[in-house]
Amino acid sequence: MKNFKLIIVLVVFATLVSCNNKRKPQVQYMPDMYESVPYAPNGAEGLNGKPVNSKPVAGTIARGGHAAYDIADTNEGYEKAKAELKNPLEATEENLANGKAMYTIYCTSCHGKKGDGNGVLSQREKFSGIPNYKDRDITEGSIYHVIMHGKNLMGSHASQITYTERWQIVQYVQKLRKDLSK
Ligand code: HEC
Repeated sequence: MKNFKLIIVLVVFATLVSCNNKRKPQVQYMPDMYESVPYAPNGAEGLNGKPVNSKPVAGTIARGGHAAYDIADTNEGYEKAKAELKNPLEATEENLANGKAMYTIYCTSCHGKKGDGNGVLSQREKFSGIPNYKDRDITEGSIYHVIMHGKNLMGSHASQITYTERWQIVQYVQKLRKDLSK
């Protein structure tokens, strides 16, 4: 009987001890999901004790890259881009094909498949004043500028399309414009 009491006491004690910290699970599955890894600004001490450096790797261009484009969203900026900015990509079939794919996603809804301004949003009168490319005096530089900054009712597409994709679209818009002028 004495032993029995002792066993009860031990069991109760063991139970209490094992549950002494209900709030903190002993094993955490994927702890990063509970305790987030904080982002530290450049120069601050990171988790490994070394200063954080999240600057882009040399020679790369940040996605969306407003920072990489320093021509201002002004009339002067537009004219400068129109006159001076050149497409750095080669005019290859591959670039053209990708430009067409991207144009189809981001531009046809307003500008239409052929670039005549007859896209779905134009037909449904959701957007007015969408030009036919052949009626605009545009250059590779001005097209890029307008993709970056938008123009009046057209918004900027800089954050959706990468640097390379933008220039591929430029190549495709120039092709559409040429075909429209035939
Ligand atoms: C929501 C509708 C809409 C979408 C989407 C759109 N545009 Fe436009 N775009 C316009 C309108 C409206 C104008 C006329 C702006 C003006 O001159 O007032 C325009 C004008 C232009 C011009 C002529 C600008 C100039 O210098 O005269 C170009 C080039 C152009 N868009 C290219 C594009 C490209 C490339 C895309 C896709 C990445 C695109 N647009 C997506 C509505 C749109």
